[in-house]
Amino acid sequence: MGKNDKEWLAIDLMQAAERHFRDSGIESARLNAEVLLACVLGLTRMELYLKHDRPVFEKELEQFRRLCKERLKGRPLQYLTGEQIFYGRSFLVDHRVLIPRPETELLVEHALERANDSGVLAAEEVRVLDIGTGSGCIAVMLALTIPNAAVTAVDISRDALDVAAGNARRHGVTEKITFRQADALGEGFVDQAGSRYDMVLSNPPYIPLEEWESLQTEVKDHEPRIALTDPGGFAFYRAISGNAASLLKPGGMLFFELHADVAEKVVGIMKNEGLMDIELQQDYAGFSRMVSAIAADGSRGL
Ligand SMILES: C[S@@+](CC[C@H](N)C(=O)[O-])C[C@H]1O[C@@H](n2cnc3c(N)ncnc32)[C@H](O)[C@@H]1O
Repeated sequence: MGKNDKEWLAIDLMQAAERHFRDSGIESARLNAEVLLACVLGLTRMELYLKHDRPVFEKELEQFRRLCKERLKGRPLQYLTGEQIFYGRSFLVDHRVLIPRPETELLVEHALERANDSGVLAAEEVRVLDIGTGSGCIAVMLALTIPNAAVTAVDISRDALDVAAGNARRHGVTEKITFRQADALGEGFVDQAGSRYDMVLSNPPYIPLEEWESLQTEVKDHEPRIALTDPGGFAFYRAISGNAASLLKPGGMLFFELHADVAEKVVGIMKNEGLMDIELQQDYAGFSRMVSAIAADGSRGL
């Protein structure tokens, strides 16, 4: 990207980085160059456009080069800038947590809609459990959106819980969320996580180990493996559905994110555990990416 002694303007540096990213096979080369440069200069992307003829100083140049090198090695853009936008809000992310995905925004949206339609949100206090909270994106969004929510967010990873607690502080909902370290596959999970919730949500690890090697470098070499893989691909759906009768109040609702290929199998698991009114929900491309169900003995008028 040029010699140290060259004086760079923002626009020239951005174009040079874009070319370099494109030649190296980085997807959305322009976007990557813009986001990284804006981050280094402390500007929004819009401000970067407006100040495109601003000189880039030596220290900024050094930092930009360092970030570009990391990006070229496959480190995800979001870990380099330290944030991901989820549901219109900025969440802190780093190597300790999965980067929240757009599908998970749909899970939150669908859960809010279905819980509202079924009367679950009319409870005096809406007790919510988020299993495998990671960055806390689901827990924080529900705490922000449901005025009378009391959210419990669990994860097996202490590191992830630290990041999630940081996000709760960032969005001013610390008082509405309790964080607990718990193993969703362990025998004592219900004791650790608590019981009688109105809503239980989970975007669990669901990529079978055999598919690990075929994942993109960005994911496989940089995101936490524990957030993504489940040896057979169904352990979390089985364990959480198996505990649903204890975790949920009668009539309470369970929501899972899933991969479309396994949707019918997950529905089968949920049916076997006595869950009712099981509904698959599609993403904008028409793939089943969410499933919801109601705990037995529901009396909320569905
Ligand atoms: C797919 S990530 C979801 C993160 C976040 N909820 C989201 O949607 O972006 C799964 C999360 O489950 C956690 N996890 C993995 N194994 C677990 C277990 N046995 N018990 C509880 N949480 C677990 C991981 O640490 C990770 O944060």
